[in-house]
Amino acid sequence: MEKCNLDNACSYVSDKIGEIPKIALILGSGLGSLADKLEQPVLIPYSQIPGFPLSTAPGHASRLVCGSLNGNRVIAFQGRFHHYEGYSMEQIAFPIRFLSKLGCSTLVVTNAAGGINRSLVPGDLMLISDHININGLNPLLGPNDDSEGTRFPDMTSAYSQDLRDLLVETAENLNIRLKEGVYAWTTGPSFETPAEIQMLRILGADVVGMSTVPEVLTAVHGGLDVLGISCISNMAAGILDQPITSEEVIEIGRQVSGRFSELISGFIALYYRRNS
Ligand code: HPA
Repeated sequence: MEKCNLDNACSYVSDKIGEIPKIALILGSGLGSLADKLEQPVLIPYSQIPGFPLSTAPGHASRLVCGSLNGNRVIAFQGRFHHYEGYSMEQIAFPIRFLSKLGCSTLVVTNAAGGINRSLVPGDLMLISDHININGLNPLLGPNDDSEGTRFPDMTSAYSQDLRDLLVETAENLNIRLKEGVYAWTTGPSFETPAEIQMLRILGADVVGMSTVPEVLTAVHGGLDVLGISCISNMAAGILDQPITSEEVIEIGRQVSGRFSELISGFIALYYRRNS
């Protein structure tokens, strides 16, 4: 069933978009406006794509947007699927498997995250160097389809060093402050307790968020090169003497969106210059 849906999703989308972009983007909470900047966009609601789930989280649209940024082709997910919405790991994996099958080679995942490392401040952009999965969940659990990827994928370089170098170079060229660190995935939907944040700090996490890791595991399995960027929307629980709200997460995303778009556009331009 899934294989059939994947084939149908790929032929449905490739008929609509023509040439397949090398780069795909997943736009996190409050960061979806970058997709509105794409030139000559082809918009495809998820509801029309065979096998795709629908996204329900606030701050997320629900469509695929394919177009160009300064002449460079990209395909963007405007709205993503979270486990806390009730989607299974399999449903979350589907759009990523779809990208591998479509023929994309690089996935840029972005998210809003809470800052654990005290050197971070809300509004910072952070390059993800690695992740921590403490949830006991993994989209690769179950029978392995060897045509999609190996049974035991190596996660030593889940976040491609070449792409990380390229993003650092882009940020330097554009004079954009870019931090680097480890992303810990919690399922949500509740924000963490201060004790949980203390635990994650001890484990080596710099930021915490409710997405990204399932997609990255699927992407690496499917042979995609991955770049991850977190937008620090708030300090994690217990770091400041104030509660955390989803409104601030989305509001900071909006405030950062100009800088964020500039960084991603610069990255894509440099990527195509180096990979064409
Ligand atoms: N915790 C988990 N997920 C988040 C946070 C947070 O503090 N901020 C944005 N996404």
